[in-house]
Amino acid sequence: MHRIANHKEIIQKIYQEIIEGDNLGAPAGYIPNLAKVDPNHFGVYFMSTQEDNFGIGDWEKKFSIQSISKVLSLSLAYQILGDSIWSRVGVEPSGSAFNSLVRLETDNGIPRNPFLNGGAIVICDLLFSQLDNPLEDFIQFVREVSGCEEINYSEEVAKSEASVGYRNIALCNFIKSFGNIDNDPNDVLHFYFHICSIEMNCYQLTKAFEFLMDGRFKTKKGSSVLNLSQAKRINAIMQTCGFYDESGEFSFKVGLPGKSGVGGGIVAVHPEKYCICVWSPNLNKNGNSYRGMKFLERFTTETELSIF
Ligand code: DON
Repeated sequence: MHRIANHKEIIQKIYQEIIEGDNLGAPAGYIPNLAKVDPNHFGVYFMSTQEDNFGIGDWEKKFSIQSISKVLSLSLAYQILGDSIWSRVGVEPSGSAFNSLVRLETDNGIPRNPFLNGGAIVICDLLFSQLDNPLEDFIQFVREVSGCEEINYSEEVAKSEASVGYRNIALCNFIKSFGNIDNDPNDVLHFYFHICSIEMNCYQLTKAFEFLMDGRFKTKKGSSVLNLSQAKRINAIMQTCGFYDESGEFSFKVGLPGKSGVGGGIVAVHPEKYCICVWSPNLNKNGNSYRGMKFLERFTTETELSIF
């Protein structure tokens, strides 16, 4: 496989131009702890199957990964339960906001996909039933897939979100009314708010997504996370649903499977080539990082490395 030519220079150039340009939007205002984050943070980390790794800006600073964790919780549920999970959650793009309740009524409490809050809450319910110690077992899974031990929940962010989590509380209870939540909604939501509160940096996130980039990936213990067909499917859902009602736009402009979080992080994967994580806290109106989207659009255009 060819090395990716000039990617460091391209990253440096785009980073510089974007940091000198506008920084529209605002950090997630509905979670008090996230609203306080400095909107000027900007970091990028690039990792490839050829080990052309490169970081710039605030790539070592941890941030709240929020919905990016939904890829990891889905992967663990898929590893444990296989294709049976798809009877509880769909794989269709929703065209609606990440915290929307509207379609659940007509869809009988089956969320359209696992990256919507409703879908991720159902996945948390599945994991809560499967794991002996859900919080401890899940963070161990994240440490194992990333190979990074220093990854933790933020109790403060989890509490902060729980204190205003009215929509997620509504979603969980509404889904339970259709019989698609088995456990006590309080337990499921406690788990959900915690997985969203995980703090990681750009480097750690690319490492945690390596199993979706590299079909030969093995953890330090020598096990694979998902088989090739399963990893293909997770990438497909990231491609079609990773950016909520902006998924089409991300596909159109960036052309990679990816996942965003309201902490301002985006991870994108080019299977068998590279994985890139961008972090900038100001969000556009769809809840995706303004500078992150811009950076990735330029990156795949200038390197000519999108999947299309
Ligand atoms: O449940 C929430 O609203 C947040 N914990 C996560 C939302 C999120 O990250 C959506 N991403 N763009």
